[in-house]
Amino acid sequence: MASSIYDCVVLPLNKIHNRAGNITIIEGQENVPFDIKRIYYLYDIPGGEARGGHAHKALYQIIVAASGAFDVLLDDGVNKKVVTLNRPDYGLFIVPGIWRELYEFSSGAICLVLASEKYDAVDYMRDYPEFLNFKKI
Ligand code: TYD
Repeated sequence: MASSIYDCVVLPLNKIHNRAGNITIIEGQENVPFDIKRIYYLYDIPGGEARGGHAHKALYQIIVAASGAFDVLLDDGVNKKVVTLNRPDYGLFIVPGIWRELYEFSSGAICLVLASEKYDAVDYMRDYPEFLNFKKI
C-alpha cells in the first residue's frame, strides 16, 4: 500500500468561542473526510506509558488531544515524523497503512479518536515486520 506519512495532516477544526468557554463540532463528511462510525478515547494514562504500536489496513482516523498533550509518531515504513497534539481544536488525520505510536502523555491527557469503521481486530497489524510486508517494503 502506497500511503505515506505526508497524507497524514493536522486539520484545523472549528471553534465557537464565547466568554463561558469554547465548543468544537465535528460532523462526519462535513469537516472531516469520512463518516464517523466509532468514537473512543484514552484517558488515565500513567506517566511514561505508550499506546498504539500498530497500523491499520483500511481504517481512517482523526486523533484529537481533547485535553492535555501527547506526541504521535507516524511511520509509513520509509519515513517517520512526530506530531505533537496539544489543542482540542486540531485533529490529526491518519490514513490506512501508517504505523503509529502515542507517547509523552501529559497528566490528565485525553486522546479522542474518531474512526471510519467499527472495531475489527482483523484490520490491525501489530507486528512491525508484518506491517513492512503489507507495505511491500
Ligand atoms: P488497542 O487498540 O490495543 O489500544 P491502543 O492502540 O490504544 O494501545 O486496544 C486496547 C484493547 O481494547 C484491545 O484489547 C482491543 C480493545 N478495543 C476494542 O475492543 N474496541 C475498540 O474500538 C478499541 C479501539 C479497542
